[in-house]
Amino acid sequence: MAHHGALVSGFHHLTLSTDGAQEDFDFYTKTLGLYSVKRTVLFDGTIPVYHLYYGSRNGDASTIITTFPFRKPGVYGRRGTNQSRTIMQTIPVGAADYWVDRLNARGVPATKGSRFGLTRVMFHHPCGIPHELVENPADVRAPIVNTAQGTTSQTAIKGIYGGGIAVYDLASMDEFLTHGMGLSQEAKTEDALMFSVPDTMGPHSVVEILLDNKSPQGTWMLAGGTIHHMALNTVTEENQIKLKAQLEGMGFTDVSEQKDRNYFKSMYVRSPGGALFEIAWTVPEGWAKDEAPDAIGTTLVFPPWFEDRRAELMEGLEQASFA
Ligand SMILES: [Fe+2]
Repeated sequence: MAHHGALVSGFHHLTLSTDGAQEDFDFYTKTLGLYSVKRTVLFDGTIPVYHLYYGSRNGDASTIITTFPFRKPGVYGRRGTNQSRTIMQTIPVGAADYWVDRLNARGVPATKGSRFGLTRVMFHHPCGIPHELVENPADVRAPIVNTAQGTTSQTAIKGIYGGGIAVYDLASMDEFLTHGMGLSQEAKTEDALMFSVPDTMGPHSVVEILLDNKSPQGTWMLAGGTIHHMALNTVTEENQIKLKAQLEGMGFTDVSEQKDRNYFKSMYVRSPGGALFEIAWTVPEGWAKDEAPDAIGTTLVFPPWFEDRRAELMEGLEQASFA
């Protein structure tokens, strides 16, 4: 099946539902040394839940991890198969031992391992979601150095490496990722497939499909302790619309309408392996839409259409200092 040229360039962000807001903030900014990029609320539904964004100081696409801390509403899900399983970020080659030591010293049990020939540090978010820091020699991005948190150009996280998706059946995702999203299968083992994501800086991020035909079906709803979706970066609206058409032409007729995420515009599609994908592009104003460019992620901000709900949201949100 023919498909167009690459309509995505790397990841835009990865999104997971976690537990406590302060715990989540401390994990990403202090333990992992990312910067707070935006602090707002879940735009969908009616329950007040924070939406926290972390990444590089400027919030570059492909560095962004976003979370919905669900402790206050107390909604938790089940990790399982047919669901995204692992958050993966890139570290410089040679930095794995540093991270094993750093994480263990901070009470986050971490071990060194390997998959598809790449050394990785394996550990868990406090809410239980598996994370990996992967030494990827093909990643040319600058490390996100955070001197306040003690990371250096030799050790700091560079951004998203990718996501692992647990599936009941490996073959189910091949057509979707290859012909639908335009990714290319680079490696295959008995129990995993690896797809590289096209990128204008040269491919350096992946989607890994991990066979798990034993676990129960994982939760798809927004629920603490589970990954909700992975967003690929279409860079432009034109590419997003073309990609929607490409997916629909394959019979994936449930690509959502475009949703306004204030800082970017998104569409969503459920993959045959169960994981939810997003295709997104950043609007020109980006993170500086509602905070000064040198102070993004330092205040709680609401989209213009939520200003009338400010008091109710403030009342309903979990208490946290974000310091
Ligand atoms: Fe998203």
